[in-house]
Amino acid sequence: MPPLASPANSQQRWGRKQDPMDIHGTAADAAEIRARVATVPGWRHRIDVGAGVVTPGNEDTSEELRRLRLPANLQGKRVLDVGASDGFYSFECERRGAEVLAIDDESSLLAGTGNGFRVARDLLGSHAGYEARDVELLDPATDGMFDLVLFINVLYHLRNPMLALERLASVTRPGGKLVLKTYYRTDVRVWLKGRCIGFDIDRRPKWWYFPTTELGGDPTNWFAPNRAGLEAMLGATGWTGIDRIGRYGDRIYYHATRSA
Ligand SMILES: C[S@@+](CC[C@H](N)C(=O)[O-])C[C@H]1O[C@@H](n2cnc3c(N)ncnc32)[C@H](O)[C@@H]1O
Repeated sequence: MPPLASPANSQQRWGRKQDPMDIHGTAADAAEIRARVATVPGWRHRIDVGAGVVTPGNEDTSEELRRLRLPANLQGKRVLDVGASDGFYSFECERRGAEVLAIDDESSLLAGTGNGFRVARDLLGSHAGYEARDVELLDPATDGMFDLVLFINVLYHLRNPMLALERLASVTRPGGKLVLKTYYRTDVRVWLKGRCIGFDIDRRPKWWYFPTTELGGDPTNWFAPNRAGLEAMLGATGWTGIDRIGRYGDRIYYHATRSA
């Protein structure tokens, strides 16, 4: 992957007004930006929003970006970011040339995380679209078709994961790509020095169900697949070329292609 543009370049590209002599902005800029950032009760993403201010998210977004292996050039592509949260990946795809629609049903507010998309978009001067709605309501007749769909850390939050994967396939053009990252389970798991080591006893497709707050104390976590369960469900919902690109801790990463 070629090196990413510097945040300063990104902001110029997004149209943020800056003094070209001072790419980090003035102290007054920084104070104003910090005040806007503070209006969001809890950030998930670390986003460089200018004047040296980075939103205080816990997610190591630059490391995740490396693991997700997004296409370097998205010029002329339409990208859908599902469960976009604060929008780090949406803004990154826009920076790589894409027209972006981000959706999020904002159910994370029930689990105590805010949603800073609108604030970050404003500060960055981004043109990414944002709609507060459920993945289940995606419809090719009104949403059109996308070349790339990002489905990052959302699957285990869904009540109807199979329906959601079908809806994603319905708005992805044949040959279009899915980038998916999710929490997943193995039959046996041990955490050792911060690393999750696990294995499956057999290769049967499985999905665990968490009726209340069993998974991480979060009432919006419902289902988690094992590898076989996830791959089988992707195959059954219109996805092919299912390529596991990595694992990290209790997360698994895939690229897949919309069947013709
Ligand atoms: C764990 S966060 C992941 C955010 C971001 N994709 C990332 O990986 O950093 C899950 C996000 O998905 C959203 N979400 C959960 N269920 C959804 C649904 N049915 N439709 C759309 N968004 C949903 C939540 O509101 C939350 O912002």
